[in-house]
Amino acid sequence: MTGMLGHILFLTLLVGYIQLAATTPGVFQWIASLEASNSSLLQYPTQLTQNIVPKQIHSHNDYWRDVPLLTALSFGVSSVEADVWLVNETLYVGHDVAALTPNRTFDTLYVRPLLEVLAAQNPKTPFTVNQTVPNGVFDTSPSTSLQLLVDIKTNGTEALPFILKALQPLRSAGYLTTSSNGSLTTSVVTVIGTGNSPLDGVKALEPRDYFFDAPLTQLNDTTLNTTWDATLSPVASTDYGAAVGWSGLTTISDAQRNIITTLVNDAHSRGIKARFWDTPGWPIIARNSVWRELLNDGADWLNADDLEAAANKF
Ligand SMILES: *[C@@H]1O[C@H](CO)[C@@H](O)[C@H](O)[C@H]1NC(C)=O
Ligand SMILES: *[C@@H]1O[C@H](CO)[C@@H](O)[C@H](O)[C@H]1NC(C)=O
Ligand SMILES: *[C@@H]1O[C@H](CO)[C@@H](O)[C@H](O)[C@H]1NC(C)=O
Ligand SMILES: *[C@@H]1O[C@H](CO)[C@@H](O)[C@H](O)[C@H]1NC(C)=O
Ligand SMILES: *[C@@H]1O[C@H](CO)[C@@H](O)[C@H](O)[C@H]1NC(C)=O
Ligand SMILES: *[C@@H]1O[C@H](CO)[C@@H](O)[C@H](O)[C@H]1NC(C)=O
Ligand SMILES: *[C@@H]1O[C@H](CO)[C@@H](O)[C@H](O)[C@H]1NC(C)=O
Ligand SMILES: *[C@@H]1O[C@H](CO)[C@@H](O)[C@H](O)[C@H]1NC(C)=O
Repeated sequence: MTGMLGHILFLTLLVGYIQLAATTPGVFQWIASLEASNSSLLQYPTQLTQNIVPKQIHSHNDYWRDVPLLTALSFGVSSVEADVWLVNETLYVGHDVAALTPNRTFDTLYVRPLLEVLAAQNPKTPFTVNQTVPNGVFDTSPSTSLQLLVDIKTNGTEALPFILKALQPLRSAGYLTTSSNGSLTTSVVTVIGTGNSPLDGVKALEPRDYFFDAPLTQLNDTTLNTTWDATLSPVASTDYGAAVGWSGLTTISDAQRNIITTLVNDAHSRGIKARFWDTPGWPIIARNSVWRELLNDGADWLNADDLEAAANKF
């Protein structure tokens, strides 16, 4: 009974509101007339990613999506991953050799679209002549850097020079995060090498705009002869199952939680962000519990296959 009264009250209010909006000259009428007019006031120059709020979500195997990169951006995902293969001096993108086609290259799927998105976000107008720092891919948060993980599947030493060359248009536009003389300047795209990316080759870069995905469980390991910091590795990652292993279906033990917080602290104390990959995807309740636990413990990136779920729930 109360439910029905509630509905009647709601409908009465709604009808009253519509009558008010239709008959009262005011902001509603103004909006309606502007919308009907195609007024130039409504044309927002950098509207490609208008209203999209960036989130710390990593798009696992991004190139599997029908439209790589752009689908991720549409959900506000600010980290994407491409598996890259060097064949005949060309960089192809795909999960395995059976998935490679002549047209799906690192250039066509990532470099060119990124240049287009960033060109749209950085119009050259009399108003922008004094702008020294470019806008990033997200209109709501121009300083958010898009993280691009490059997972080299073939010989890393051989692929690295080709990747550095492929990145040249982004580099010359000033779009790449760069470390030089030991200091990091964040720009709108941060490229991180993983997979077979060669640690020694990345260390030798000066200036450096291709970084190294550090081993999150080994940041203390002195036998690696490496000082891990954000100028070499803005992010460190590990296999969630091997490092933590909690299924998400039971109550997490203190020991398991302690592993997560220790690893997160090891990274953060060096200015590095922490990422756990291969988190459970199913059942959904386990996936969500693990995501929530990782976020509560300070992890920086949610690794996601279902971008919509990650974007809407967290
Ligand atoms: C609206 O205006 C823009 C530019 O002023 C024009 O390109 C577009 O075709 C117009 N759209 C309509 C429906 O008139
Ligand atoms: C690589 O080049 C060789 C020699 O030109 C050619 O036979 C082969 O089909 C090429 N492979 C691919 C994947 O393009
Ligand atoms: C691949 O690229 C070539 C050259 O740009 C183009 O002619 C062809 O239509 C493309 N094929 C597909 C399947 O997109
Ligand atoms: C750009 O800087 C110049 C020199 O300081 C100044 O005269 C001009 O008004 C500035 N333009 C804009 C759009 O801010
Ligand atoms: C990768 O290529 C380099 C240079 O050609 C070679 O020295 C090295 O042995 C190769 N690494 C592997 C694992 O095949
Ligand atoms: C790095 O330091 C060297 C020596 O101090 C200097 O010559 C060079 O200009 C610096 N490079 C950058 C990019 O600041
Ligand atoms: C790394 O070293 C710090 C400081 O000594 C320590 O608290 C932490 O537990 C170590 N991390 C691992 C994974 O052993
Ligand atoms: C670290 O340095 C030592 C001594 O120079 C060397 O024996 C060892 O192989 C190096 N370790 C790695 C992972 O490069």
